[in-house]
Amino acid sequence: MGKKITVVGAGFYGSTTAQRLAEYNVFDTVVLTDILDGKAEGLALDLNQSRPVEGFETKLVGATTGVNGEGYEATADSDIVVITAGLPRKPGMSRMDLIETNAKIVRGVSENIAKHSPNAVIIVVSNPLDEMTALAQIATAFPKNKVMGQAGMLDTARFTNFVAEELNVPVGSVKTLTLGSHGDTMVPVPSRCTVDGKPLADLLPAEKIDELVVRTRNGGAEVVALLKTGSAYYAPSAAAARMAKAVAEDSGAVMPVCAWVDGEYGIDGVYLGVEAEIGAEGVRKVVEGDLTDTELAALKEAAEAVRAKQADVADL
Ligand code: 2OP
Repeated sequence: MGKKITVVGAGFYGSTTAQRLAEYNVFDTVVLTDILDGKAEGLALDLNQSRPVEGFETKLVGATTGVNGEGYEATADSDIVVITAGLPRKPGMSRMDLIETNAKIVRGVSENIAKHSPNAVIIVVSNPLDEMTALAQIATAFPKNKVMGQAGMLDTARFTNFVAEELNVPVGSVKTLTLGSHGDTMVPVPSRCTVDGKPLADLLPAEKIDELVVRTRNGGAEVVALLKTGSAYYAPSAAAARMAKAVAEDSGAVMPVCAWVDGEYGIDGVYLGVEAEIGAEGVRKVVEGDLTDTELAALKEAAEAVRAKQADVADL
């Protein structure tokens, strides 16, 4: 049987993710849910009508859900669930400003998902990302490898795009990496950044690289400030959909994701942005890459910052 995936939340992030997933044509069914009456059904109907034009057979199903679990039957036995539910930032807000509001939403959604899809792999994208990922694991009580968050793919994509634009080279020739949190303690890893195999440090002065790193760290906020309402969704949905595809295809692709780290890099027991091998069971393993002493110190610092906040969400 083909795979079933649910995207919780039919805002721009959720609906764009559902569209990308459907257009891959690898899933039987993409279920889109929302608490706004009829919104998910309307978008699913519209997306289904794009099938003959785009040439995909995946069926979209929309469902209106309620906080007491109404409507979740439509999501039953999903192999993968992408949680986009929650509020996006407004200009001037940090992702952390969303923690209390989004914790309530993500906890409720996670509990309902766990009831109806007890074997699913969960991909969290709600913000603040690292904390909401930790909370989804607590609320579902799923094995830690089956719950992960999307951030590193997005931050890396932003960094890569900025480097490619700066050097006026194709994005395909640039490799970058960011680890750590999806926030102030994001850790870009310049030692793993190359252009056509050449170290980035040989191509750009250190101040320029720092500038691009800062722009990457503020990448989400820059979009929020321009949009004025809502936050980014094209690059975020591309990243989340690729993670889901790797799970669906049991591909073993290594990607930067927010995963449970327990011992790797000398860091214990925290959800953190690291590279991981992704397969049908979610995170197959965290892949420890070579880091310079400075990069490793920054990753450890990020782990401690995130750990403190993740302890808080357990009570939210
Ligand atoms: C971003 O960085 C939504 O957190 C996401 O744009």
